[in-house]
Amino acid sequence: MSKEYFYITTPIYYPNSVPHIGHAYTTVVADVLNRYENFFGKTTFFMTGTDEHGQKILEAAKKSGMETMAFVDKIVKEFQDSWKALLVNPNKFIRTSDPEHIKVVQYALNDLFNKGDIYKKGYSGWYCVSEEIFYTEKDLVDGKTPTGKEVIYVTEENYFFKMSKYQDRLIKYINENKNYICPESRRQEVLGFLRNPLSDLCISRPKSRVPWGIELPFDKDYVTYVWFDALINYISGLGFLERENNDFNNFWKESHHLIGKDILTTHAVYWSTMLMALDIPLPKQIFAHGWWLNSESKKMSKSEGDVISPSSVCETFGAEAFRYYMCRGGKFGLDVPFSIDTMKERLNDELANNYGNLVSRSFKIVEKDFEGIVPSVEIKLETSKELIKEEEKLSLFVKENIESFNIDTAVFEISNFLKKVNKYFGDLEPWKCKKQGETQKEAECLYVTLDALRVASILFSPILIDTSKKVLNALNVPSDERTYNHTLTFGKLKAGSKIEMLSPIFMKY
Ligand code: ME8
Ligand code: MG
Repeated sequence: MSKEYFYITTPIYYPNSVPHIGHAYTTVVADVLNRYENFFGKTTFFMTGTDEHGQKILEAAKKSGMETMAFVDKIVKEFQDSWKALLVNPNKFIRTSDPEHIKVVQYALNDLFNKGDIYKKGYSGWYCVSEEIFYTEKDLVDGKTPTGKEVIYVTEENYFFKMSKYQDRLIKYINENKNYICPESRRQEVLGFLRNPLSDLCISRPKSRVPWGIELPFDKDYVTYVWFDALINYISGLGFLERENNDFNNFWKESHHLIGKDILTTHAVYWSTMLMALDIPLPKQIFAHGWWLNSESKKMSKSEGDVISPSSVCETFGAEAFRYYMCRGGKFGLDVPFSIDTMKERLNDELANNYGNLVSRSFKIVEKDFEGIVPSVEIKLETSKELIKEEEKLSLFVKENIESFNIDTAVFEISNFLKKVNKYFGDLEPWKCKKQGETQKEAECLYVTLDALRVASILFSPILIDTSKKVLNALNVPSDERTYNHTLTFGKLKAGSKIEMLSPIFMKY
């Protein structure tokens, strides 16, 4: 059988200040999707990193009084530590200061320059340092960017990429490839943007003004525009220059850029046209999710203040609870108000009262009435048969939804399945069976419940990494039987093996 590949990226974040909940969101979701795809048997690659050049970083470093690289190193370490604390495990953490990355950026610049797709001209315009984007007079709203950020007027000679040349090809591509930009609302947004003529993209900054960047290989007085530099990470991190001798092509064909909707245009338009000019196929998909909103229903962001730090949430609730809420916070793709109260509700309802309680109730009865040994049974009850059918449908449903990035739906379904198991368990009242001499019924109820816990725990393992392991260990499920295939059929739990008692697996808030 031929290998199946999967490549997922997050944006590379600006290390101008410490990570916040928005960064954690994209990164945790990408980690979860990557772990699921791996679990489905694919060869996967997950990359995140930092976007270290440009005026914004330079100014932040100056403000801190530190030397620029030392300042960046310090914040990059905070990003890396945060990801570790959240059990995020990328295959590669790329930094735009990596020499391998710089080489690919210079290769791309040279290639476009030699093809005549880069030219020099005098230029004036309004520049937004916060977004690192140029605006024309007509783009401005009350003298600020459309999102209300400050701009400065800049006049200088610069190099331009002939982006406009690729406009028609891009429109055609987006029309023909309905899944290239997702969700559909974002695809429409890009097509709307492309209804106006595209201008060429200014891809340089004079060193005299912004000395912090990658030097243009054909003009030492300039550095590369930070977005041109940053977008290249998606190929440089995969070993683009050695692509004849590595897995670059296999991964690139299956590439997914997970981003927030704030940076849709730079990806859907700048990056796509850059790739066209470079004669590199476009990624398989750009998926732009919504925003976590603050108490004033605005995007949670450093510049707005009112930001929640992932490490503080993590300290109170633990990494797994945080990961769970990131996946279950709201419909993936749409904006979600961030609320600690909703988070507590979800955790109590779905983890502690549903999953956790079922584990303790069922384990306790097995200990009491079966000396902790998984009973062997024949399935007789109609209600058991119905539940088993649900169990056998679950993993395929999860797979289909994960593959289309409906992460909230996939997770909800596992939790909902456990709700059904709880109901089944409650209806059969196994705790009364022994007294009433209904040993078959009791054994059947417990076996079906424990096997359901086996499947649900395996399916939860990309999110609840340690807890699912704890439950599977307690159920004595061998590590090589925790695969996707083992979730497709009922009854893989070994009767006759002894289960270990567990203290409550989730806290209640
Ligand atoms: O834009 N809700 O970096 P950045 C959800 N360096 N996600 C959010 C969020 C929120 N409130 N706030 C931030 C950059 N994010 C560039 C990217 S890529 C080649 C270069 C997440 O530090 C979301 O993924 O401003 C968003 O797109 C990203 O952080 C922006 O991070
Ligand atoms: Mg930003």
